[in-house]
Amino acid sequence: VGGAVVLGSGGFGVYYATAKQDTVGDVSFDTPLSIPPTAAAERGGSGSRVFRLGIQSGETRFKDGPATRTWGVNGTYLGPTVRVRRGEQVAFAVHNGLSEETSLHWHGMHLPAAMDGGPHQPVAPNGTWAPRWTVDQPAATLWYHPHVHGSTGTHMYRGLAGLLIVDDEETDALNLPSEYGVDDVPMIVQDRAFDGDNQFEERVPLGGSLGVIGDEILVNGTLGPYFDVTTRLVRLRLLNGSNARLYHFGFSDDRKFSLVATDGGLLAEPWQTERLYLSPGERAEIVVAFEPGERVELRSHPSEYGGTLGRLDGFDDRLDICQFRAAATLSDDTELPAVLGTAPALQGETVAEERSFVLASDQINGKSMAMDRIDFGVHEGTVEVWEVSNDNGFLHNFHVHDVQFQVLTVDGERPQPPLRGWKDTVMLVQGKRYRLAMRFRDHTDPNVPYMYHCHLLQHEDDGMMGQFVVLDKGERVGAVPHAHHHT
Ligand code: C2O
Ligand code: CU
Repeated sequence: VGGAVVLGSGGFGVYYATAKQDTVGDVSFDTPLSIPPTAAAERGGSGSRVFRLGIQSGETRFKDGPATRTWGVNGTYLGPTVRVRRGEQVAFAVHNGLSEETSLHWHGMHLPAAMDGGPHQPVAPNGTWAPRWTVDQPAATLWYHPHVHGSTGTHMYRGLAGLLIVDDEETDALNLPSEYGVDDVPMIVQDRAFDGDNQFEERVPLGGSLGVIGDEILVNGTLGPYFDVTTRLVRLRLLNGSNARLYHFGFSDDRKFSLVATDGGLLAEPWQTERLYLSPGERAEIVVAFEPGERVELRSHPSEYGGTLGRLDGFDDRLDICQFRAAATLSDDTELPAVLGTAPALQGETVAEERSFVLASDQINGKSMAMDRIDFGVHEGTVEVWEVSNDNGFLHNFHVHDVQFQVLTVDGERPQPPLRGWKDTVMLVQGKRYRLAMRFRDHTDPNVPYMYHCHLLQHEDDGMMGQFVVLDKGERVGAVPHAHHHT
């Protein structure tokens, strides 16, 4: 097995930088799925909890042969799962043990822009960054990853990422499967390309590319994982932690499963399906029912977007992801409630501003990201509607910092159930128009921007990103202090 499938657009067509693989991902599942540890917290001042996250380089053994040079948080690959509760004050000490600048961004979190860990909050080598905020949003599966402009893709590819789970009372009361690592299982799904020495391939073609697409799949850093199922119902917290790859999740026997939560939290009710798309950065919580003694695989199935995404090899193949091995007897003390959360209902709100965003050629609305240009300001307390579309033939998605949004319509129609809950990242199918409603609340700062961007990391690094600030009434957009300039 071997080469990276590296895709790019040479102006019009699509080229393959290395030969296409005939079989992508026929794996033998012989390694137990590793479960990221939960991060320990210390007591800080004024009742806060403090998490220490150390970013470091190291070596990780993914397969036989040489170890792979990797990066990780409190370890050599990926990082611990951080669990926080709604209403509590949390603080972090993020230490950068690398020899270059990096950052940690809290993807999906509502928090002050100066705590966001984006391109304007880099952590210098050997430096420590200490953000703090009060958690004020519903239970959800969020995550953290680096966000230094121009290098986000490389830093994530080397292994910097982890889950950031928000808990709250309402979700605790539901009796959903919730024993971490037993019937509530994190799954950080990533593709990687290994070279002949077991090192990660990082080659990326020049120009408007998707970046590197790997032909081997890691879940929580495990290659060829299996998971021992001990309960009838299992909740999987799926994160597409890949740089560019789209997953079309489903099981090898096409069984139905229940989608219970999307990026920002619970759906109003479970949705039964056989298939689920997740583009880079998106999360989903699904509940799967197992029979005693059975074995079944989680896969990525071919995409229905032939001609748009499907013609890109590496998106269209079947990929085996993880095997589930059910015990001879399964305990059965959780249930799937008929009613879960509250559906977003911004459609009736007064809209303060409508904006439109067209993604094409590494730009948004014809502009590339500039660290010292704030694209616009929004006003605290108001609801805006953003219409977003993908104007070229590649996969893009759209992520907004600070808020969770509601997808009002897709091409004028009510969206399908997976887009009816709170979202912070939405996949953009070519040519479709997505209308997103969001309310901006508190944490105003005219000078420190939040980001919006495509979460295909090569696109983001190449400039498909912009910046906005949240303003008080009557306030004007300021200037970015000491803007850091990266290439
Ligand atoms: Cu997941 Cu701006 O990031
Ligand atoms: Cu993109």
